[in-house]
Parts: sequence; structure tokens; C-alpha cells
Amino acid sequence: MLELAESYALLNRSGKTQRDLLRGRTLINLFFENSTRTRTSFELAGKRLGADVINMSVQTSSVAKGETLLDTAATLNAMHCDLLVVRHNLSGAPHLLSQKVDASVINAGDGTHEHPTQALLDALTIRRHLGRLEGLLVVICGDVTHSRVARSDILLLTTMGARVRVCGPATLIPPEIERMGVEVFTDVRPALEGADVVMMLRLQKERMAHGLVPSAREYFRFWGLDAAKLAWAQPHALVMHPGPINRGIEIDSAVADDIEHSVIHEQVEMGVAVRMAVLDILSRRGPGNE
Ligand code: CP
Repeated sequence: MLELAESYALLNRSGKTQRDLLRGRTLINLFFENSTRTRTSFELAGKRLGADVINMSVQTSSVAKGETLLDTAATLNAMHCDLLVVRHNLSGAPHLLSQKVDASVINAGDGTHEHPTQALLDALTIRRHLGRLEGLLVVICGDVTHSRVARSDILLLTTMGARVRVCGPATLIPPEIERMGVEVFTDVRPALEGADVVMMLRLQKERMAHGLVPSAREYFRFWGLDAAKLAWAQPHALVMHPGPINRGIEIDSAVADDIEHSVIHEQVEMGVAVRMAVLDILSRRGPGNE
């Protein structure tokens, strides 16, 4: 999938499209949570491959009148949608839908569970810069408890042979996360020593009970990434963030915008390429071709 995404990254930079691939197919973006990057990149990916793309606005749909998730899915199924891209605040919602509709269902982020295409675009970005994933030391720092990105990144990066450390306040590290094959740190300095990649996570206040973090200023002092802390990582270390960024809380603006280290905008660019690869592979599904 990363190889295919790499070819789509090149195609996108050339300004060409491949509109035959998904001609006649319908992709529906069904987002029950806000999104800028994921929704837009799935829309672009679908259009660049020739699909008819519909962005359902949940706020103005019949969901607002009380229609359930499953009834909404059954309604879309009746319209013979081919690809259903789902973001939902409940972990497991896309999996449930995949059992109820004929369309291919793509998880665009479910609760605190997973965000698989984000992990793929992160892996692609790292590989393009450092040439490999195997043997790299990746540090994921911040609000790990509420991060679906962290879970998907851990699964993918450890599968590909990278070492992963997680770091953050003890209140934002889920119990038993070591069972996912990661090392756990609450102090940033030992976590960052030797890091090839520093991935900062957003503080997800909307999913958080009160009292899990000190003040924003204190959080930044201990866990926010600034130039002084970044110096503890390897000189070539990449700085990543899935976005959206809380500047001055988990990352200093000077580091987020430092083109020597930060690949945050390239992550967004690779998001389109990865999602084109995902749609391409799913379009090959069909009778006798499962
Ligand atoms: N990284 C990410 O999922 O961003 P959006 O919420 O903007 O889609």
C-alpha cells in the first residue's frame, strides 16, 4: 500500500489525475465529527480517481431528526454507494457499519480507537524522509489516552519494525499500553534521546474529563515541544503532528514551522496519496476478486 501511495504522491505532484479508475463509483463521506484534513483528502482522492463524491453534512441530514446510525447506513446502502468513509465519535462504529452495508467502509477515525489512514500517511512521510521504518525510534508524545492516531501508529510502526516510545503525563497514558509493544516515559528528556521521529499529539480537551492536565502553560513547560527539547533527539529528527495543532500547548510555533525538521505539511500532502491508494485497492474488490 505504501508503494502504491508513493506512486500516487508522484502523480499528484505532476498535476495529473487518473479519472478512469473509479469512474461510475460513488464515494460518500459520512463524518459525525469535525474534520479538515481527512474529509478533504478523501474527497480529493475520490475525485482524482474519477469517483462521484458526496459529502454528507450530518448536521443538516436526518440524523439531526433522530435517525440512527444504522438507519442512516441502510438508507445510503439503498442508494448503492460503493465506498463509505466514516468518522464517528464512538469506537467501533465503522466496523459495525461494515457488517450492515454492501459498500466498502473506510474508518476515517472512530472515537479513541483507530485512525488507520493517518497511520499510513505518517508511515509514508517517515519512509520518504528517512528511507525506511525498520529500526527507527519513534516517540509519540502527549495525550496518548485519547489518541486514535497513537493507537494506529503504534500498530503500524511496530509491525514495520520500528521501536516506539510513548511519553506524556501519567494521567494521559492508558494503562497497560506496554502490551502494544511500546516503552512508556513520563519525562520528555529520556524519551527523546536518540529519537529519529518526534510525533506530537493534540491535547484532546473535548474528550477529556476535568483535572487530567495542569494548566496549558504548565503542560507546555513539561511536555510541549520547543527547540530546547528537540535538541535531545537526533540531529536529523523529524517533527510530526497529525493536526490540528494547538500552538503553544503541545508544540511551539517555531518548531512546528521549522522546515529543517517539521514535516507536518507533507503529512497532509501524503494523506491524499495514501487515500488514493486505499480507494484504488478497495476498487479492485468485486465478485471473484474479494
Ligand atoms: N489528522 C486528522 O484526522 O485531522 P482532521 O481531524 O482535520 O481530519
